[in-house]
Amino acid sequence: MNINDLNAVAEAMVAPGKGILAADESTSSIGKRFAIIGLENTEDNRRAYRQMLITSPGMGEYISGVIMYDETIHQNTTDGASFVKVLQNVGILPGIKVDQGTIEMSGSPKEKVTAGLEGLPERLAGYAALGAKFAKWRAVITIGSTELTTGSELSIPTDANLRQNARDLARYAKNCQDAGIVPMVEPEVLMDGNNTMERCREVTEKVLTAVFEELRAIDVVINGIILKPNMVIPGKESGEKKSPDEVADATLKVFNKTLPNELAGIAFLSGGQGDIEATENLNAINRRGTHPWRVSFSYGRALQSAAMQAWHGNAANIASAQKIFLHRAKMNALASLGKYTAEAEHSS
Ligand code: 13P
Repeated sequence: MNINDLNAVAEAMVAPGKGILAADESTSSIGKRFAIIGLENTEDNRRAYRQMLITSPGMGEYISGVIMYDETIHQNTTDGASFVKVLQNVGILPGIKVDQGTIEMSGSPKEKVTAGLEGLPERLAGYAALGAKFAKWRAVITIGSTELTTGSELSIPTDANLRQNARDLARYAKNCQDAGIVPMVEPEVLMDGNNTMERCREVTEKVLTAVFEELRAIDVVINGIILKPNMVIPGKESGEKKSPDEVADATLKVFNKTLPNELAGIAFLSGGQGDIEATENLNAINRRGTHPWRVSFSYGRALQSAAMQAWHGNAANIASAQKIFLHRAKMNALASLGKYTAEAEHSS
């Protein structure tokens, strides 16, 4: 695949009015989601759940691509069609998570780095042969609690952590492009802490600056990647509440400072935001006028949680769960155009 093809795939991922379904939870992550609905984490339940999502009638209108996990990309529907084929038949791009999860950073155990670079070119070649057009790698950046961040020695995230995560993201992105696969570059600044929105803004700016330095340093083609960032929001434990307009302003302030215009597109993670909160924030960002990049979504929890609740592991609930999933996809598709409204939310 040449550079033009990479750019074409990247642009299709963020085509107007479309976004990505992140359905690439690892076996242990999906187990945590299933535990909420009291469902056993078996291969067949995982398969049935993903089949329910990807066979939602009409999903191709709002969803451009689906990120799968290694197990999922090898699975078939009950009718024997491969999941990859099901997606291809409705014009949805198959994607694959290629990182192998996070591990403690040596020397700074409160921080994380991501595993999976070893053997990555071989694994990418295998996924490309299966039909994957894009990949995902998630790096996690932790913001230390307020007490810790007051001392510069103890400041989390450390520069070393930012640099290693940025470097590993760049190496992964380069490997993907060499394999003809569009890399989604995901540096996630976690929203779990007690930090202010201002601290999130500061850390996100540092992270994105480092990521683009490292991408450029090894000649990753910027118009052949999709950035999957966090929004700039207060930490969950901070007690701060910010309106969608405030989130949009803070997020765009960082993006305008750090992101190159040639970036093909942005597809946000939801990161633990509520379903409607994630939609409203995306909408506010897109109502701020035209940006140099398309700004869309690549949500996991914010697209799936209501549908998973409705499904509850029961085949009799498939049609109603798919309806709920499709509604969330449509609401986020509207938000990716800045056209989401409360009326649309309550329309069905
Ligand atoms: P959330 O939207 O649930 O954060 O998941 C997106 C994702 O792909 C995280 O890697």
